[in-house]
Amino acid sequence: MDRIRITGGQRLKGTIPISGAKNAALPLMIASLLTSDRLTLKNVPNLADVNLLARILRNHGVDHSVDGKRANADPHLLGETFHFTARDIVDTTAPYEMVSRMRASFWVLGPLLARAGEARVSLPGGCAIGTRPVDLHLLGLKALGAEIDIDAGYVVAKAPKGGLRGARVVMPKVSVGATHNVLMAASLARGETVIENAAREPEVADVAQCLMKMGAKIDGIGTSTLRIEGRDRLEGATHHVLPDRIETGTYAFAIAATGGDVVLEGARKELLETALDTLQQTGATVEETAEGVRIARNGNAIEPVSIETQPFPGFPTDLQAQLMALMTRAKGTSVIRETIFENRFMHVQELARLGADIRLHGDSATIRGVGTLRGAPVMATDLRASVSLVIAGLMADGETMINRVYHLDRGFERLEEKLSRCGAHIERLTG
Ligand code: EPZ
Repeated sequence: MDRIRITGGQRLKGTIPISGAKNAALPLMIASLLTSDRLTLKNVPNLADVNLLARILRNHGVDHSVDGKRANADPHLLGETFHFTARDIVDTTAPYEMVSRMRASFWVLGPLLARAGEARVSLPGGCAIGTRPVDLHLLGLKALGAEIDIDAGYVVAKAPKGGLRGARVVMPKVSVGATHNVLMAASLARGETVIENAAREPEVADVAQCLMKMGAKIDGIGTSTLRIEGRDRLEGATHHVLPDRIETGTYAFAIAATGGDVVLEGARKELLETALDTLQQTGATVEETAEGVRIARNGNAIEPVSIETQPFPGFPTDLQAQLMALMTRAKGTSVIRETIFENRFMHVQELARLGADIRLHGDSATIRGVGTLRGAPVMATDLRASVSLVIAGLMADGETMINRVYHLDRGFERLEEKLSRCGAHIERLTG
């Protein structure tokens, strides 16, 4: 199993290219199920989750090919171009072995139902960060007329005669995945669907833009009310995946943590205003440039900030662990409240191994800044928790060895390469 070794204490300087967003690329790939034409996606990050989803989609009948293969040595080349064609849906079952490995594959439910009239998709089960139910996905699809049963751990769904029909769907809670699922299904439903209290995350807007190119009519993109006029059939399209705001925020926090001056190339500030405002309050400089976003911190102390995670445009849960890593060295005490997932604090015990002083009480963590962190062996537990350990390792004195880095490979493209080109002492040990 691969490990990552970091020797902390280096300031970061240079440029880090930001990849296409994993959490947009995944639902965009799933949208290929909605048409028999070719869907071309540009700027797709080369990640374990993308490759796994491509395999899962192949099971349903989606052919895919890749061009624009990048030269691995040059991180400035943009992501790859994938072509997906689902001429025929050959299998409407998404088995447990697949869905349990990647929760986002549950989102095939809506598109399969809309295109093939039926779907049998495994319930994903719990995961490291919380119970993560799917009731909102089912509520939305039932509103569009689907008949849904749970049988032996599977959601078995059937569209009514004549197909799904538009409806008003009021989400009792904001859910990114449920919004994707219902939005995609509604694009192939008869008549108008209105989703109220829809997720406003930029990745949802990116999927909606792509569905528009495929022929759906969607109003209210970027707001909490989406109005979708479905079509009998959708067409092929070409779409460029938006930059990854979580990768952007992660490197921004890493630069603030180590000190230094780095341009995050291709980053878009407006995709993470709240996180970057928070970063500025810690004493870092954030500046929009022609190339992207420049982050710098030179010598000044890290000021403590307190936040709570919220759906977009609030502070993202996917950056909570990274902010906590930064706060371990703040000049004072900060409080971080996690309101989205009930168990997203697995990094706390690992950060403590490096000398962090963190107390957990219910959904909140109180972090008292310490003078130094000291390197130690730690264990990656989920994607974002793992990368918080990378940030802590970059700040710590001495060597930090991160085990189980396959979690990182799910969501960070060429992490060691991007950081080491900016001066970090970080390397992957394989095997
Ligand atoms: C997406 O997960 C992201 N995943 C997550 O990123 C992200 O943390 C999350 O949104 C919140 O921003 C992808 O985009 C692939 P939700 P999702 O449905 O859609 C509850 C990462 O590290 N809920 O918005 O699964 C749920 O339990 C990942 O890249 C229900 O109660 O999240 C949670 O408390 C991790 N019933 C809240 O809603 C439901 O039917 C938000 O979850 C669905 C969700």
